[in-house]
Amino acid sequence: MFNEIEKEAVYNVIYKRRDIRNFLPNPVPKEIIDRILQAAHHAPSVGFMQPWNFIIVDSMEVKERLAWATEKERRALAIHYEEERATQFLSLKIEGIKEAPLTICVTCDPTSGGSHVLGRNSIPETDILSTACAIQNMWLAACVEGLAMGWVSFYKKNDVRDILQIPPHIDPVALISIGYTDDYPSAPILEQVKWEKRKSLENLIFHNKWGEQ
Ligand SMILES: Cc1cc2nc3c(=O)[nH]c(=O)nc-3n(C[C@H](O)[C@H](O)[C@H](O)COP(=O)(O)O)c2cc1C
Repeated sequence: MFNEIEKEAVYNVIYKRRDIRNFLPNPVPKEIIDRILQAAHHAPSVGFMQPWNFIIVDSMEVKERLAWATEKERRALAIHYEEERATQFLSLKIEGIKEAPLTICVTCDPTSGGSHVLGRNSIPETDILSTACAIQNMWLAACVEGLAMGWVSFYKKNDVRDILQIPPHIDPVALISIGYTDDYPSAPILEQVKWEKRKSLENLIFHNKWGEQ
């Protein structure tokens, strides 16, 4: 099915993909964005409901309003941290929404596919999980295209609904910043600044029952 080089390429992109916050102003060609969105649209989805929409934002005015919503939320979240950690939190990973040439709001429509979507009857949040699969496909496609992508989730959904005129039943799952960067780190930014590090996989694998290693 896949030769060794193709296999290696897939694992390479999985390991090399990063969440990016620093962007150059250079525009991204439309055909590349089209390919990334096609990759998103080929994600698995519960009952094949394909609950996603993509709102492409290139207006500086709209990006500034989105950046206001995320900045406000970041300051609100800072109360959860004390002293040094709070300062560190506020200086961390400043959102690149204003910098990146494009922001894509990925939404989830829980009514897509009707009221009895196969599989979603049992676990309703599978619609959002499907949307997350689409976003991960975008992330991997952006990485192989030499593009930087950041997933922003610090915002109140109603602020984003107001700014982008999204109807109340549609969930604005993610704000995605996309553009070129001259700073693509080899390790997660949060690991580099010693906020958090990757857990050891062996401690996360159990056998036959919870907790049994
Ligand atoms: C659901 C989700 C939401 C995220 N939201 C944010 C966010 O609001 N702000 C941020 O700086 N990073 C956000 N991230 C990026 C994570 O911080 C990042 O994926 C993690 O630190 C690991 O780094 P890596 O993606 O470079 O491997 C989000 C990631 C996911 C999967």
